[in-house]
Amino acid sequence: MRSPFLSAILPALIFGINGVQALTSYANDFVNPDFIVAGDFANNTLAAQATILAWAKDSASKGPWFWKLCKYVSRDGLFNPDGRLINDVGNFQALADAVLYNSIAFSITGKGITSSSYSKTVVSFIKAWFLDPETKMNPNLNYAQMERGPTGQVGSHTGILDLKCMAKIVSGIMILRKKKCTDWTDDLDGQMNAWAREYITWLETAPISLEEGDADNNHGTFYYNQLAALKFLIGDFPGALNVTNTYFSRQYMSQIVADGEQPLEAARTRPYHYHAYNLAAMITNARIATYAGDKEVWNKTTNAGSTIKTALDFSLGLSAAATKETTYTTELYPSIAAVASVYGDPEGKYASFLANGVPGFALDAYFLWNQPLAGGEAESAAIVKAFETSTSQDTKATPSTGSSASTVKGNGATVNVARWSLVGALLVALEYTLL
Ligand SMILES: *[C@@H]1O[C@H](CO)[C@@H](O)[C@H](O)[C@H]1NC(C)=O
Ligand SMILES: *[C@@H]1O[C@H](CO)[C@@H](O)[C@H](O)[C@H]1NC(C)=O
Ligand SMILES: *[C@@H]1O[C@H](CO)[C@@H](O)[C@H](O)[C@H]1NC(C)=O
Repeated sequence: MRSPFLSAILPALIFGINGVQALTSYANDFVNPDFIVAGDFANNTLAAQATILAWAKDSASKGPWFWKLCKYVSRDGLFNPDGRLINDVGNFQALADAVLYNSIAFSITGKGITSSSYSKTVVSFIKAWFLDPETKMNPNLNYAQMERGPTGQVGSHTGILDLKCMAKIVSGIMILRKKKCTDWTDDLDGQMNAWAREYITWLETAPISLEEGDADNNHGTFYYNQLAALKFLIGDFPGALNVTNTYFSRQYMSQIVADGEQPLEAARTRPYHYHAYNLAAMITNARIATYAGDKEVWNKTTNAGSTIKTALDFSLGLSAAATKETTYTTELYPSIAAVASVYGDPEGKYASFLANGVPGFALDAYFLWNQPLAGGEAESAAIVKAFETSTSQDTKATPSTGSSASTVKGNGATVNVARWSLVGALLVALEYTLL
């Protein structure tokens, strides 16, 4: 039995304090479904796994996100509040996170499991957003980021960006497929592929979409994220590679100069954010390219001779505080972990940077799929320290022993997930309250 004190405080810890959502939404990512399904995780990822379970539950409780088809009654002098409630951009991001975290949660909570509440959540959300005739989104963005007023009431090319997180959704669906999830039926798969095919055609032919694909800055980079990921979804791996090849031979070539600066992002109002934002998009394209079979992409140099690593190294020197960008000062962190996992981190430079910024960074979800951070078995002192920080927090917190607590298995270790969720949520909540 959980103590009354814990019952009162747990929801606040898990779901954030003062109404602040604890879940962190990364700009974008493609998570290798083979890595997740193989389930061969190091012990030091157990806390990150617990965080993913907590985030999966958190996001499951918030969706599905769709418009209710209401009959409106005209009332003189009153606004229709719906007009102010619609937040499709944020809703799609929330959907993408829910699909990704619930799919990973489904996979990591058991090798032989083919159905669970996590996979059922994914299926119900996908149905509501893409497939159910009553609530589905049409496979185009003709009205996204519409310019209101006399210019025509049609969407603008910048609105294509709003579906960038399709890469997370595709990662999630691929995990369900590879795990032979019984909730993800052939019928559903066929319907989702049909939706994706229509949307791909729109992405490849609609004038505003082609305009977005031509954008030199992060808009162009993110465009290729969603198009390439969707090619995976419909099973077209050569097509996905073609898409990432297009990006890496076009926009990428002039996006990083010799010292690693991204000039098109430096020119923006929030340089820390835009550098981190485009890096996340570049990394997502590189991960997709790698999964499609490109073995050279991480060493691919721009016209100025730089790589993604050069760009990250430059961004490490940017200060969000210097440009008064206080809203999300850890935006770069998932990209630091990605670069460390791909290029290695023999001196522990990246791990130290993470540890200095967020002492419990090994609890963050991204830590799971950016392994090994330090290269090989030899973990850097910084990671060990980060993990120990979380373990010592753990012994201070009273673990929940509710019978519904699920378990995470990793390399033979079984850890009480509720306990780790508590630690993870505590640190995440603390981070938000201290901001
Ligand atoms: C590769 O992309 C180009 C457009 O960039 C297209 O014309 C061509 O058909 C694509 N090839 C494949 C195999 O998808
Ligand atoms: C870059 O190329 C070098 C030399 O071929 C290779 O050893 C290294 O693994 C490559 N790095 C990445 C991240 O692909
Ligand atoms: C993981 O932890 C378990 C239990 O403490 C231990 O037996 C196992 O050797 C560890 N595995 C690795 C790879 O460190």
